[in-house]
Amino acid sequence: MSDKTPTWKTDFPIEATTDNYVSRREFTRFLVLVSGAAATGSGYFVIEKFAANREAYPTAVVALTSELAPGHAKLFNYPTENDPAILIHLNNGGYVAYRQRCTHLSCPVNYRQDSDQLKCPCHNGVFDAATGAVLGGPPRRPLPRIMIRVGQDRIYALGIQGS
Ligand code: FES
Repeated sequence: MSDKTPTWKTDFPIEATTDNYVSRREFTRFLVLVSGAAATGSGYFVIEKFAANREAYPTAVVALTSELAPGHAKLFNYPTENDPAILIHLNNGGYVAYRQRCTHLSCPVNYRQDSDQLKCPCHNGVFDAATGAVLGGPPRRPLPRIMIRVGQDRIYALGIQGS
């Protein structure tokens, strides 16, 4: 280099034409690393959420199978004493349970045996008792379902779906 060459050029002898050059291999490696980091981070949060949900809900006995004839319902609280819930022995013989709060503005829903539906008295919301799906009225979301297990003589609440 000549004597007129600035000092910074001798300290950093990189030509401007090669300064921003990134090979396809380097770029691919960068993409793989960023994608892998994003996937790992997302996976961590998904696993953490499932683990938190599993820990949050206790297993609780909510009724004896002998308590409820088909077409009848029982109120209980789950997962805490401040969470009203409803267990229904459907006319077809199956059992289902839901949070008892309407998904519109949280009024308590009631079971109607004649139609196998849950009805909300506040604004006439109607839910299918077998699925919790909205059949009419202002609610847009189905009732959160409480997962249950029917044992020999007891019915257990295990957790909540769609809360
Ligand atoms: S609170 Fe149930 S329909 Fe409005």
